[in-house]
Amino acid sequence: MEPRRACGFGALDSSPARRRPVRRKDGESAGYSAAMAENGRPASRTRRRTMQILKNPRRDPQLAPLPWSERMFAAARDAEAWLALCPSHRPTPLVRWQPWQDTGPTLWLKDETQRMRAGSFKALGGAYAVMQLALAAARRVEPGLGLRELVAGAGRAGPQLEVCCASAGNHGLSVAIGARLVGCRCTVFVAQTVPESFVQRLQSAGASVVRAGAHYEASMAAAQAHAERPGIELVSDSSWPGYTEVPLLIMAGYLRIPREAMDEAAQRGVAFTHVLVQAGVGGLAAAVGAALRAQPGDTRRLIVIEPEVADCLSASAAAGRIVEVSGPASNMGRLDCKRPSMIAYELLAPACDDWITLGDDEAARGTALLQPLIGSTPSGAAGVAAALLAWSDENRREQLGLTPQSQLLCFVTEQSQGSPIP
Ligand SMILES: Cc1ncc(COP(=O)(O)O)c(C=O)c1O
Repeated sequence: MEPRRACGFGALDSSPARRRPVRRKDGESAGYSAAMAENGRPASRTRRRTMQILKNPRRDPQLAPLPWSERMFAAARDAEAWLALCPSHRPTPLVRWQPWQDTGPTLWLKDETQRMRAGSFKALGGAYAVMQLALAAARRVEPGLGLRELVAGAGRAGPQLEVCCASAGNHGLSVAIGARLVGCRCTVFVAQTVPESFVQRLQSAGASVVRAGAHYEASMAAAQAHAERPGIELVSDSSWPGYTEVPLLIMAGYLRIPREAMDEAAQRGVAFTHVLVQAGVGGLAAAVGAALRAQPGDTRRLIVIEPEVADCLSASAAAGRIVEVSGPASNMGRLDCKRPSMIAYELLAPACDDWITLGDDEAARGTALLQPLIGSTPSGAAGVAAALLAWSDENRREQLGLTPQSQLLCFVTEQSQGSPIP
């Protein structure tokens, strides 16, 4: 069977994508602004609308030691104990998909759409960081307090801690869930553009919601100003010089995802050859990279996917330093980050094999093709879209070393919008 037709990418059209507000997790702090001043003007992106592959010029064949990975593993030390205390936690499915039957590679889809009944993989990150912050706060009053006692006596951390964040999507819900679990106050700042339904979801998870500003950056500035008061911690999933501990905890929470996938693959006798993961600021991709490369002699090909108008990680790799890009909004809204997280970039630069940039229509088409199996969004299905598209073209197959025997791990990172939250 002709792979191109089989996966439906021959029918891609090039109609202009619907615009959505840009989500920029960057531009968040004085530290960030100072970094930008050093790095000069952002590179401007226009739409090419077709997937591009860039072999990572920073790949380190020795891979050792990966920056930040040991600290991330150490930060994950309580993750298992914490998950055992979360009533809604269970491993997510690893779904086998053969869109080309036996004439093309096998896709393995790590389906994060129901993770902890929060609708996305993000449930593992912000909530875990909040738990660790709460434990540290409570131990200042009750030294030696255990995690179980903290959760059992939810409220213990209450007087010592409030957490806050800005959110345009899944992160705020995760922070709110974590705060509810440990009994501390949580304030989420959202821009005017955030739908009321999302505000209600946050409120039903126990957060106080403050509408602040016309766009994500304004809500982030409000969250930062709020966090200047004593006893209030900012929980951001991006990092910059001087702000690394909390994002490291968040990435430590994500580690569970690749570890589950690798454990299940081992049980089923599957050896992944390629791992495709989509990136916004890069936290998830860095956690995946750290987990893969921690296995001795790892040769799996790590491919990181970004929207073509928000290719901040691959542009940084090309430049050899962190850069900000600018460009129009992408329909991959949660990936539409114009500046990478510093620690994620530093870890991925030596660990990633290839960077892929994806056009909006390509991501939308991939989402539609995945729909009968798993309902998601262009952000959630970007890795799958890249895999489908890569196999549809002989040059790309060659560039990425794909064969019909390849076993590709992809991550479906959020459920489709409008899905009911259980
Ligand atoms: C659904 C979804 N997928 C992928 C990502 C990318 O994660 P990161 O920003 O850690 O790279 C995000 C980030 O918010 C997301 O919400």
